[in-house]
Amino acid sequence: MEKIVIISSSVRRGRKSHRVALWLSRYLIEYVHTGVDIADLMEYNFPLFDERLVFQENPSEAVLDFAGKIRNADGVIIVTPEYNGSYPASLKNVIDLLNEEWHRKPVAIATVSEGSFGGSRVIIPLQFTLWKMGALTVPSIFQVPKVGEAFDIDGNPNDKPLIEKKTATFIQELLRYIEKKK
Ligand SMILES: Cc1cc2nc3c(=O)[nH]c(=O)nc-3n(C[C@H](O)[C@H](O)[C@H](O)COP(=O)(O)O)c2cc1C
Repeated sequence: MEKIVIISSSVRRGRKSHRVALWLSRYLIEYVHTGVDIADLMEYNFPLFDERLVFQENPSEAVLDFAGKIRNADGVIIVTPEYNGSYPASLKNVIDLLNEEWHRKPVAIATVSEGSFGGSRVIIPLQFTLWKMGALTVPSIFQVPKVGEAFDIDGNPNDKPLIEKKTATFIQELLRYIEKKK
């Protein structure tokens, strides 16, 4: 069984992009029957980056736990909101923390916004950073505009047939990358 880790990036009080992480997690469990783990950056509450894990003398349990999740994942989905045309500092904080864990890791991106463009401007800076880290970024993007209308707080989609269709395409592409890598 594939192991997929979903990084929920927003640490903002009242965040909404976490709804998308909940939906993708449920989709993977119920429709695709993969193993799923949500790496919730709000729960981890990491301090601001001060050195890469590989150079830390006494890494915290939380850092080791997060690194282990990424290392052992067959694929990673990053759910990120768009903040001022890019991805949030909380996400950069954990990308920089790791190094070889990202190498050749299939990574799919879900972008989220409250406006109409679905966080589309995140894609270029985030894909570039992941490419620099040696990750295998999946071209298919899951874009969620108007997130507050599209999903309820538990991650239930308002227009289920539409979201199921978009999710199927997105997940299939990630699974293809995982398969090809093997
Ligand atoms: C600091 C900040 C900057 C934002 N910048 C953008 C932006 O550039 N483009 C956009 O479409 N939405 C922007 N938004 C609105 C977010 O898309 C919206 O708040 C979304 O719910 C954020 O995800 P979150 O609720 O999980 O934090 C911004 C929100 C915040 C808090």
